Amino acid sequence: MKFHIHTYGCQMNVRDSEAAEALLVAAGHEKAAGEDDADLVIVNSCTVRQKAEEKAVGKVGNLIAAKKLTGLMGCAVKRLGEDVFSKLPKLDFAVGPRAIGLIPRIVAEGRFPRLELGEDLMPEALAAHVEEGGFQAFVTVLVGCDNRCSYCIVPDVRGHEYSRPAREIVAEVRSLAAHGVSEVCLLGQSVLRYGMRNPAWDERDAPSPGGYTEAFPRLLEAVASVPGIRRIRFTSAHPKGCTDELLRAYCEFPQVCRHLHLPVQSGSDRVLSEMGRRYTRGEYLAAVRKLRDFDPEFAVTTDVIVGYPGETDADFEDTRSLMEEAGFDNAFVFKYSPRPGTRSALLEDDVPTAEKERRDQVLLADQERRGQERNERLVGTVREVLVEGPSKRNKSRWSGRDGGNRIVVWDCDEGSSPKIGDIVRVSITEAHPQILLGKISPLRNGTDF
Ligand code: 5AD
Ligand code: SF4
Repeated sequence: MKFHIHTYGCQMNVRDSEAAEALLVAAGHEKAAGEDDADLVIVNSCTVRQKAEEKAVGKVGNLIAAKKLTGLMGCAVKRLGEDVFSKLPKLDFAVGPRAIGLIPRIVAEGRFPRLELGEDLMPEALAAHVEEGGFQAFVTVLVGCDNRCSYCIVPDVRGHEYSRPAREIVAEVRSLAAHGVSEVCLLGQSVLRYGMRNPAWDERDAPSPGGYTEAFPRLLEAVASVPGIRRIRFTSAHPKGCTDELLRAYCEFPQVCRHLHLPVQSGSDRVLSEMGRRYTRGEYLAAVRKLRDFDPEFAVTTDVIVGYPGETDADFEDTRSLMEEAGFDNAFVFKYSPRPGTRSALLEDDVPTAEKERRDQVLLADQERRGQERNERLVGTVREVLVEGPSKRNKSRWSGRDGGNRIVVWDCDEGSSPKIGDIVRVSITEAHPQILLGKISPLRNGTDF
């Protein structure tokens, strides 16, 4: 069968789709050029906000109308359970995030409709996959979440926190490197909690010649020792995990990119406490300061929710001022959306939609200016950029990312064609809020670190 997977949501979903694709290919199916060309179309859904879920459900609805064999996978399936078939009576199958390993069997058996919510983790569905010629890979290190923030549905849909054994992760990274991967992104909902809650976690899994005692820095040490891995990223983080040992790992392993996605959600202590975030504004800012004292160009990005129940103008202004103090390099702003079954869904969603919209716009405008200011500081410096390919907007330019995950675009003159996956040095000539422009630095061709 020719199949196509359409993905919504976060990097975990992108990785899950890659895994589902690899499992279908291993079962003898073929990747279609696009959905029009496919006999089987699967939509991988997100449910973190109501709108995200609606998008995915709407998309499957359209596909069903086109009379294809259709499946829905991912977070919205787990949330909806049986209800998925009342919303989409003609859907063929639905699988939750912990059941994607069953997809090939479901397709082979052909008994529809079929719902698999799944609780067991299937090792074959956890492994990383890259396409031929790919140089970047997502590697799952931790699944699920036990944090229970008041607004968040993730623990309900992705289950309890589980850390994969370090030995499995390192073997996987070795095999990725042998296939030409030079950048790995270690994934977990709260990745710095790696190894904390897992009965299967065994310290012998990741021996630490460097003497690291915390599980995540220890894992970084093990991954950094894999030859061929030139960049290591990870996401998402929590300020409690910004320990001295983590900083030591940043310092000792140049492969570890100096970028942290550190969702703050709010700048008001009252709201943070209601959300159950387990840090204060002061503690959060201290974590950011620690990173920037170590390296002033350390990139810190964040997620913010506006319009949480009871969020006053003063709370909102606290968020604004926190964002200014933290000097975020980038920020994703979300309008609060009550999710059934979460603690905050019991509270009245009392901030009017128009006010949520206003707060969203204010923060985005602030961030636009701040992004410009932060990027301007980099004009005149040389950044080490991993080449990703020709720029989407202008094919005569090339595009890549620096260690801070900033997009860097440069003119590809003098017939020099960089190799995708290489690291080049670009001297920055122009700054924009979300992008840096430059030219290849003549100082050194920079394929070394
Ligand atoms: N409403 C709005 N935004 C939410 N997020 C998580 N849950 C909700 C919700 N109920 C945001 C958080 C999180 C990001 C992935 O989505 O900011 O970090
Ligand atoms: Fe990712 Fe959360 Fe959306 Fe699931 S619900 S895809 S974990 S953002």
